[in-house]
Amino acid sequence: MGAHRSGAGAEGGVRPLSEAARAAVKPPPDRLYGRSRGHKLRPRQEDLLRLTLPRLRLPPDQAADPRAAFPAGLAELWLEVGFGGGEHALAQVAAHPEVGLIACEVFENGICSLLSRLVPEGAEATAPLPPTLRLWPDDARTLLRALPDGSLDRLFLLFPDPWPKTRHAKRRFVHPAMLPLVARVLKPNAVWRVASDDPTYQAWVSEVMSAQDLFIAPAPATARPEGWPPTRYEAKALRAGRHPLYWTFIRRAG
Ligand SMILES: C[S@@+](CC[C@H](N)C(=O)[O-])C[C@H]1O[C@@H](n2cnc3c(N)ncnc32)[C@H](O)[C@@H]1O
Repeated sequence: MGAHRSGAGAEGGVRPLSEAARAAVKPPPDRLYGRSRGHKLRPRQEDLLRLTLPRLRLPPDQAADPRAAFPAGLAELWLEVGFGGGEHALAQVAAHPEVGLIACEVFENGICSLLSRLVPEGAEATAPLPPTLRLWPDDARTLLRALPDGSLDRLFLLFPDPWPKTRHAKRRFVHPAMLPLVARVLKPNAVWRVASDDPTYQAWVSEVMSAQDLFIAPAPATARPEGWPPTRYEAKALRAGRHPLYWTFIRRAG
């Protein structure tokens, strides 16, 4: 594994931010700030975590060779950070049977929500599961650190927790200190899709991505592009009259 890892701390390719943004920036600590537990789990949810999750989970010791956890001959390997209820992840798996998807989520109720769409009640231990889907029920940053260089063809970050207060900026996933880590695991010309409906996060993404040269960073779309399945959080944002932006960043080849 060591041979693949070039040191996620490398800061190459990230230029200084404005004074205001710099004030908000501290290196993101490796602790999780969102919720990982909600209400007490119902028996069905407990069964899904106990009987179904182990059948889909990417074992931590396979993170250094993730393709080994999938059927041979995958065309591409994709990763989703913070899949929420799993709508986007499951739609991508159904639409792209030739692609392997690793989907990460820390919130137990979200993990149960994805699992419950796959498995009828009573068949938690036996229902067939999509061979091209693996779950990482843990902090996506841990997985990113363990993956080999250039192992991913696509990364999805859809409606990440916005942490709109300046003093919480260090918790944002799009962050100058995260970019070398994200860039390291993506192949040259790989795609990083990001969506956000939060005006502070939108301005932050634009500023952070215009101060780096690891990714080509075109202006965002104001309507969800083709081939980009909707999520529950997006539907909530649209109902509330918010205006999501959709970015497609490209990992520079050199
Ligand atoms: C606002 S929700 C959006 C969920 C989903 N992408 C959607 O659009 O409906 C953000 C999700 O990211 C998850 N999350 C936050 N930090 C994470 C991390 N470091 N690793 C994995 N998941 C994370 C949260 O638990 C939460 O479910």
